[in-house]
Amino acid sequence: MRILIAVLFVGVLLYTLNQVRKPSKWYGRLFLRIMNASHSPLTDWGLQHVRIEKQFTILDVGCGGGRTIQKLAALAVDGKVYGVDYADGSVAASRASNASPIAAGRVEIRQASVSALPFPNDTFDVVTAVETQYYWPDLVNDMREILRVLKPGGRLVVILESYSKVATKAPARPAMKLLPFRKMSVDDQINLFATAGFTGIETFQDRRNGWFCGVGQKTAEPLRHDS
Ligand SMILES: C[S@@+](CC[C@H](N)C(=O)[O-])C[C@H]1O[C@@H](n2cnc3c(N)ncnc32)[C@H](O)[C@@H]1O
Repeated sequence: MRILIAVLFVGVLLYTLNQVRKPSKWYGRLFLRIMNASHSPLTDWGLQHVRIEKQFTILDVGCGGGRTIQKLAALAVDGKVYGVDYADGSVAASRASNASPIAAGRVEIRQASVSALPFPNDTFDVVTAVETQYYWPDLVNDMREILRVLKPGGRLVVILESYSKVATKAPARPAMKLLPFRKMSVDDQINLFATAGFTGIETFQDRRNGWFCGVGQKTAEPLRHDS
C-alpha cells in the first residue's frame, strides 16, 4: 500500500511539474492563474533592474498567463510588447489577459519556442524571461537566439524565483538533464550569459526571498570613424 501511495505521489508530482513547464490541459491553465498572482512581486522586483523607456519594443519569452506583458505594456506606452510561449495553453491565457492592448495593436502574442524566435535580427530593446529559463532545452543556443533578436545595446533580463546557492558539480549535470527543470547558481548564470555572448553582465539577488535577476547586454555596434 505504501509503495502504491509513493508511486501515485511521484506520478502526480511529475505530471504537475510537466504542466507547469508546458501548460496545456485545464490543470496547467489553473497553474497559470496562480502564477500570474504569485510571480507578480518577483517580476516587479526584477524589472527594477533594467531601464524601460516609453517607446521600447519588448519581448517576453515564456509569457505564461500574460501578467508580465501587462506590466511591460503599462511601461512602454508608446512602444510595443510581444510575447512568445511554446505551450498552447499559455498562448491562450496570455491572449485572454491582454485582450484590450492586443485589440489596440500594442501587444502581440505568438506561439513559438525560445529556440526559434519568429523575429528578425536586432528587433528588441529589452527581452524578459520570468520563471521560464529552468525549462529551456539548449541553454547556450537559446540565449544566443535571444541575443540575435536584441538590438545592439539591448538587454536580456532573466528573473527567477529559485536558484542554487552552489555551482552545479560536473558529475551531477547528467542527472539534472533528467529532471523537467534546472536550478543554476549565480556563477553558472554569469558563465552562461558570457558563453552566449552577452556583455555588461550584472546579477542581483534578494536573499530573503531567494530571488535572482541576471541582466546581459548585446554589445552596441562600435562607432565607425572614416579616415
Ligand atoms: C513557470 S511558467 C512562467 C510563466 C510566466 N513567465 C510567469 O512568470 O508567470 C513557464 C512558462 O515557460 C514556458 N516555456 C517553457 N519552455 C519554453 C520554451 N522552450 N520556449 C518557450 N516557452 C517555454 C511554459 O510554457 C510556461 O508558460
